[in-house]
Amino acid sequence: FQEPKPLNLKDYIREVPDFPKPGILFYDISTLIRSADAWQVATGRLARIISAWQPDILAGIESRGFLTAAPLAQRLGCGFTMLRKPGKLPGKTISLKYGLEYGEDELHIQEDAIKSGQRVVVLDDLLATGGTLAASVNLLRKVGAEVVGASVLIELAALKGREKLDIPLNSLITYE
Ligand code: PRP
Ligand code: MG
Repeated sequence: FQEPKPLNLKDYIREVPDFPKPGILFYDISTLIRSADAWQVATGRLARIISAWQPDILAGIESRGFLTAAPLAQRLGCGFTMLRKPGKLPGKTISLKYGLEYGEDELHIQEDAIKSGQRVVVLDDLLATGGTLAASVNLLRKVGAEVVGASVLIELAALKGREKLDIPLNSLITYE
């Protein structure tokens, strides 16, 4: 895949102050994915990075992680599996609670989502404290995955989420 023209992905991220709560600066990817050129460049870069990890399955974290994981899985010839909030997945699931800045949340995966030893890359839109991604890695390991990498569109480097992970992490856009 050849990039059509040099393009700075950060130019396509909209910064929304005080969302979802006062004092939070929200990095909105809506403006990136609605640009055909920018989205093609972003997914092309992700495909190059993720294919090097030779995954069997891409796991997407609800809900914006699905936006990258599902189309990339198809492009790379991988399966796709979902990490979801409570009460969304049918059948037997395994779950993990994890801490947020305020309070806690919980992710589930179907217990038969992964065959033992399958190579999995996990994707989300954004890495902040790393709590969500670290919990996802642990959950995937509980169902037998070999987690070989993690990928996000945006990394908030000052929060040092990367330090919570013991696998390679790639981010396309970094804010200090
Ligand atoms: C946001 C974002 C990541 C997570 C990153 O999700 O989409 O999943 O926070 O934060 P962390 O690195 O500190 O864990 P959020 O929990 O707000 O829920 P949502 O994706 O359902 O909107
Ligand atoms: Mg999220």
